[in-house]
Amino acid sequence: MPARTTIAHRVFVTRPIAEAAIRRLAESARVDLWDDDAPPPPADLAEHLRPCDAVLAMVSDRFDAATIAGAPRLGVISNLAVGVDNIDLAAATRAHVAVGHTPGVLAETTADLAFALMMAVARRVAEADRFVRAGRWRMWTPRLMLGRDVWGATLGIVGWGAIGQAVARRASGFGMRVIYASRETPMAGRRARASATPARAATNASAAGAERVALAQLFAESDFISLNLPLTAETRGMIGRTQIAAMKRGAILVNTARGAIVDQSALERALRTGHLGGAGLDVTATEPIDPRDPILELPNVVITPHIGSASHATRLKMAELAVDNILDVFAGRIPRRCANPAVKLRVARRK
Ligand code: DGY
Repeated sequence: MPARTTIAHRVFVTRPIAEAAIRRLAESARVDLWDDDAPPPPADLAEHLRPCDAVLAMVSDRFDAATIAGAPRLGVISNLAVGVDNIDLAAATRAHVAVGHTPGVLAETTADLAFALMMAVARRVAEADRFVRAGRWRMWTPRLMLGRDVWGATLGIVGWGAIGQAVARRASGFGMRVIYASRETPMAGRRARASATPARAATNASAAGAERVALAQLFAESDFISLNLPLTAETRGMIGRTQIAAMKRGAILVNTARGAIVDQSALERALRTGHLGGAGLDVTATEPIDPRDPILELPNVVITPHIGSASHATRLKMAELAVDNILDVFAGRIPRRCANPAVKLRVARRK
């Protein structure tokens, strides 16, 4: 075992994560751990990044061009997330900084939450729980807390990546009709990656009994709509007033992707007027949501604090993959899960 003093690389880990992953990282690098669940303020982030070759980062850390430029040794930003919208990818690529992320390992867990939100809104689970806790449950009555059937309904999935497909598999077990619009249909911006090549996506769709449709048809026919696509320049604000107006009356919108994909004020208005029947949101326009935000007044909205991938097992897998992505760069390789695979690596060699 080499003595710790000969260890070459330095890594800043911006939050406490699974200890096993940190221990493995510490076998190959000098780890500087920000030991607080609150993010490092920008000045602290900049200071801790300056001497580091790598950073293991969270979706709630922002890496803009200035932050990246202020970290001259940085060779890799390894995000503990599949989404990389917190990172200026173009600036990272220009600066020869690889961006690692954690697709795949969190798909099933995130799909579980999407389904949980869908069912919670449809069957008024959170509202019913509040009702009982408030001491308002007097007796069984035939009209109490009537909700909507999930089984047999039409589910429209926007985004046909690993998470969207995992949601579809759950839906087929509920006897739902599943339709989807992938990133390659008219609303699409960024092309789907290898895991969702058209041929593979079609095979997966037929396995899940899902049918690909245009976005307009999906809006018109879906009783439930699940957003499962990344936030990019093309998808920012893609669910606005017009798209919401095109949704079926009474539809329930579920968002486990990113808040900025939806115009939240337009959503709130549609929920107030009754055009939409409810919403299940794991992500919001600003995070954390302001406790005075008017959308929180609505009983038919269930909001969770961006916990899509938050199971013990999945967070461990994400941490291990985030470490692998860093170690790949230290070994001179592109991270195994890389959001900017065309990057030319720059890793500071330490003596
Ligand atoms: C992701 O992976 O992008 C999630 O939003 C964070 O868990």
